[in-house]
Amino acid sequence: MKGVILAGGTGTRLYPLTRLINKHLLPVGESPMICYGIDKLKQAGITDILLIIGKQSAGLYTDFLGSGREMGVNLTYKIQEQAGGIAEALGLARGFIPAGGRFVVLLGDNLFMDDLQPFVEKFKKQPYGSARVLLKPVKDSRRYGVPVFDEHNRKLITRIEEKPEHPKSNYSVTGIYMYDDQVFERIEATSPSARGELEITDVNNLYARDGKLEYDVLRKWWTDAGTFDSLREAARKMGKAGQ
Ligand code: G1P
Repeated sequence: MKGVILAGGTGTRLYPLTRLINKHLLPVGESPMICYGIDKLKQAGITDILLIIGKQSAGLYTDFLGSGREMGVNLTYKIQEQAGGIAEALGLARGFIPAGGRFVVLLGDNLFMDDLQPFVEKFKKQPYGSARVLLKPVKDSRRYGVPVFDEHNRKLITRIEEKPEHPKSNYSVTGIYMYDDQVFERIEATSPSARGELEITDVNNLYARDGKLEYDVLRKWWTDAGTFDSLREAARKMGKAGQ
């Protein structure tokens, strides 16, 4: 099993900080944000990791992380030339994933306490060509992808609504996804959304439509640290005690 962390993007909600440095290198507690995702993959036994980054701060990533040896992982880097959406960035992982291979994808700004291993084990037992997403109950799900559950098969999600005005559940789809190499064909089958990006929710909905999208629910703390408020909260949680 390999891992992919998406760590590019412009981070506009964190301007002006992210005009200086890429969001995923901002400090959270005592470490740059990117370290938490790497640690989580390592904890789940995944040490072969691709970082997809933008041109911004590319040198800082390699200066700081190098080959990954110091963190006990093996890092590969790919550059997303311009922001084209999460699914477009994920498409760059083609070539890193062997034929028939499975992998875990993390959005680099998603910080969480759960151990991924039990979810990865369940994913390994799923049929080839299916996918798994991790959910988390939240106070206001309108900021996120929101799952609609299958009434007949509680293991499945039938549809994800991206940032709905009237959410059908109080769950968010977190930025933790599990796929095999078939995901690349599904990415190719999507078209740019109204904001001109390839959306990960559109990709996941292709799985949901075919009855191939399973899920788990995170039990512990989770945030996406893309705003000043959530970055502050993450720093509080991820202090020394949180690690
Ligand atoms: C993205 C996804 C959304 C998901 C969120 C989790 O949203 O599109 O479905 O719930 O990540 O962090 P973004 O934060 O890029 O708007």
